[in-house]
Amino acid sequence: MRKKIVAGNWKMNKTLQEGVALATELKSMLSSKPNCEVIIGTPFIHLATVAELVKGSVIKVAAENCADKESGAFTGEVSAAMVKSTGADYCILGHSERRAYYHEDYAILKEKVLLALRNGLKPIFCIGELKEEREAGKQNEVVKAQLEGSVFNLSAEEFSNIVLAYEPVWAIGTGLTATSDQAEEIHAYIRSLIAAKYGKQVAEDATILYGGSCNDKNAKELFSKPDVDGGLIGGASLVAEKFKAIIDAF
Ligand code: PGA
Repeated sequence: MRKKIVAGNWKMNKTLQEGVALATELKSMLSSKPNCEVIIGTPFIHLATVAELVKGSVIKVAAENCADKESGAFTGEVSAAMVKSTGADYCILGHSERRAYYHEDYAILKEKVLLALRNGLKPIFCIGELKEEREAGKQNEVVKAQLEGSVFNLSAEEFSNIVLAYEPVWAIGTGLTATSDQAEEIHAYIRSLIAAKYGKQVAEDATILYGGSCNDKNAKELFSKPDVDGGLIGGASLVAEKFKAIIDAF
């Protein structure tokens, strides 16, 4: 069964106290069950506290990254096992900001995905093209290479524990959103790649989120498309009412 998901990505925002306040507010707003799964992606330092706070509610917690090494002398890194031990269920991986600013390439992301899965975390794996790549009509080629480079090595069973997020880089934090037709076109293409690799059923069951300036105004239109199964929300996930309105789009 394909899951509908609205996931927040707080990025490097909110002190621990501010994050706890936001999660508390959201939890009280979501006392009746929404029509989708709700995930909040928080910085590492918030994870344990927020996971405890939302326990028993509809909200699940995601890390925004994990290390590409199992354990040991890697000062400042946080392993997938550590993330799992906080009570988090998901881990955002391959976000374009990590690819661009921290030089995370296909091989590094492949390791991170494997370690996340091996430690019982579900990766939310982000893919998407740059503005120049879209202008050159290369978006399909780019997302295909990103999938082949980091996740198409997985078995069908492993792959079914992954959530994909298509996030055109030109739409992230810019206020420019892909139109719902642009999103649908590439989501359908991504699903066809999954079908070619893993078969029709795995593709049918795969959750593919849209991310990039998705907000309370455009979510309903985007989510109305058959291959758009929810959103990965940056800016608008930092304000409880806005995030709740996106969840209510389902
Ligand atoms: P945005 O970010 O909603 O602020 O554009 C989305 C993301 O980077 O996941």
